Amino acid sequence: MKKFTCVNDIGDIRAAIDEALAIKRDRFAFTELGRNRTLLMIFFNSSLRTRLSTQKAALNLGMNVMVLDVNQGAWKLETERGVVMDGDKAEHLLEAIPVMGSYCDIIGVRSFAGLKDKAEDYEERVIEQFIRYSGRPVFSMEAATRHPLQSFADLITIEEYRTMERPKVVLTWAPHPRALPQAVPNSFAEWMNATDYDFVITHPHGYELDPQFVGKARVEYDQIKALEGADFVYAKNWSAYADPNYGKVLSTDRNWTIDAAKMAVTNNAYFMHCLPVRRNMIVTDDVIESERSIVIPEAANREISAQTVIKRLLEGLK
Ligand code: CP
Repeated sequence: MKKFTCVNDIGDIRAAIDEALAIKRDRFAFTELGRNRTLLMIFFNSSLRTRLSTQKAALNLGMNVMVLDVNQGAWKLETERGVVMDGDKAEHLLEAIPVMGSYCDIIGVRSFAGLKDKAEDYEERVIEQFIRYSGRPVFSMEAATRHPLQSFADLITIEEYRTMERPKVVLTWAPHPRALPQAVPNSFAEWMNATDYDFVITHPHGYELDPQFVGKARVEYDQIKALEGADFVYAKNWSAYADPNYGKVLSTDRNWTIDAAKMAVTNNAYFMHCLPVRRNMIVTDDVIESERSIVIPEAANREISAQTVIKRLLEGLK
């Protein structure tokens, strides 16, 4: 594998799940693969899970790891070409990227959507520049439009907990006080559409996702109807995608919060969320603390999805 930014990069999804589960059974089986190889993790945005799980995954593979927080201690970076750099940005991304590439073998990048310019976000300008100019295999640690390491971990988790061939999986919008990118729901939808699951998306009017991600999913605007008979409930907030409201919060309606009454209409569903989660906005305390909440094993599987991806990138090095 040469890069990892979306579900298509993982190839056969069944083979990827089987490889991930094998890694989980023996996560130190490939400690020689990464010997004398260096992973550089570059963060333009905050992280807890991605930072720790990806480092742990690389250490499991015998790699050295370097972490750069671009906004803490690095020169402020200009990303646009043609700009007269007479402001506070001391370095251009077009020099910084190949320099960073010269110090490592593989690069992980986290760069969220700005939510101001839809075209810029959906072109994935930052991670695409890393792919083009770093000279190294690049993987996404959440980019503007997708969070594939999260979605891969979500899929591994559903595979571990499902008891039927074709579970009903419901992605539900839930309220949040701030505007959040569409990366997690986009990506989750993309990965669910790569399976045979019965996949349903529910959200208020105005929160329609980009059709390229919705794919073959059923969209149901009535949240209770959508949740009926669900085996897995995946809650997430996102801001509006459709123009003219791109990146805006249209609703903070707590009638969409996942609570015990909502979970009662499901098929005793498991509750999932990528974390961090705003309690009693997205989900009530009792639901996230219930025995059907699998948010912790879901987060733990981030180490497994990252290790599977980095292992494949290492195998692709010359
Ligand atoms: N789910 C996730 O990516 O968590 P962090 O933002 O803490 O990395």
